[in-house]
Amino acid sequence: MSKYWSPVVHQLTPYIPGEQPKLNDLVKLNTNENPYGPSPKVIAALQAEAAETLRLYPDPNSDRLKAAIAKFHGLQTNQVFVGNGSDEVLAHVFHALFQHEQPLLFPDITYSFYPVYCGLYGINYELIALNDQFEINVDDYLRPNGGIIFPNPNAPTGIPLALEEIERLLKVNQDSVVVIDEAYVDFGTESAVQLIEKYPNLLVTHTLSKARSLAGLRVGFALGHPDLIEALTRVKDSFNSYPIDRFAEAGAVAAMQDSAYFKETCAQVVATRTRLIAELEALGFEVLPSGANFIFAKHPAHEGDVLTARLREQNIIVRHFKKPERISPYLRITIGTNAQSERLVNALKSII
Ligand SMILES: Cc1ncc(COP(=O)(O)O)c(C=O)c1O
Repeated sequence: MSKYWSPVVHQLTPYIPGEQPKLNDLVKLNTNENPYGPSPKVIAALQAEAAETLRLYPDPNSDRLKAAIAKFHGLQTNQVFVGNGSDEVLAHVFHALFQHEQPLLFPDITYSFYPVYCGLYGINYELIALNDQFEINVDDYLRPNGGIIFPNPNAPTGIPLALEEIERLLKVNQDSVVVIDEAYVDFGTESAVQLIEKYPNLLVTHTLSKARSLAGLRVGFALGHPDLIEALTRVKDSFNSYPIDRFAEAGAVAAMQDSAYFKETCAQVVATRTRLIAELEALGFEVLPSGANFIFAKHPAHEGDVLTARLREQNIIVRHFKKPERISPYLRITIGTNAQSERLVNALKSII
């Protein structure tokens, strides 16, 4: 505690990211990265970018990247906002669109960065409990609010919400912004991007960290009505003019343009997920339905924290959340390669 700190800093409870251990021979299944590297076209674009132009600032508007994203999603560039990872995009969303008198609504079990942004920006929020099956029930969100946000599929459960349910919410809730955080949407969940033209209060956020294998490059974006995009741009231009550096823009453009590689690697992750779920179920695990590149699983005879620790002894890292209590029996396991899955299953067999 320092007397020099701003009052808000005393109150902050920062987000704790999954660890990035520097160990060899590690099976790293704890932060939902993609086990496959980025497209070879991304690597080529990064190498081409490593030139004397680095002495110059990047394009503050990231026009090339916005054009590539808009093209991929069939939108206009003024419907696209880009930032340094979707975490930064989300920070600007909270700042620009959620500071209202009525509380922001989000699930009690969800991406744990949301309450952190609320603390940073002084946003009042209400947690809406998932049902007993860990599902989002849209009816629970039909109440006065200053905004609504949830991931689809949700994290850390992985459970997808049907597009019709999202549309049902949007039809009724037109006076505040609804943000669907689609960080994991490309692994088998239906996207709400197709509803953007119809609902001016819908904002959808995406990341290149997961399906495009670029967690290290830090690029995310938001799609929505130009008025929402302008609000985000105003905040961004009051914060950092150049969130996307030259490498990030070059690599992200190449990634957005290589649809074939993107589809192939996503399909591979989904195939591995199907196989892993069957193998874990054969070991007695209960696995929640997943539309993501991770699964949420518990074993009736073994505690979540104990299993996590035992796996770690075998150099396999998964994520465990102690709170809220109802998820403490679960492990969140990122889908890796088939070889990594095999090591995981063999380790679990030895433990169980
Ligand atoms: C639900 C959700 N949203 C957003 C993010 C942020 O991703 P990034 O900042 O890498 O784009 C994550 C990261 O794990 C996430 O789980």
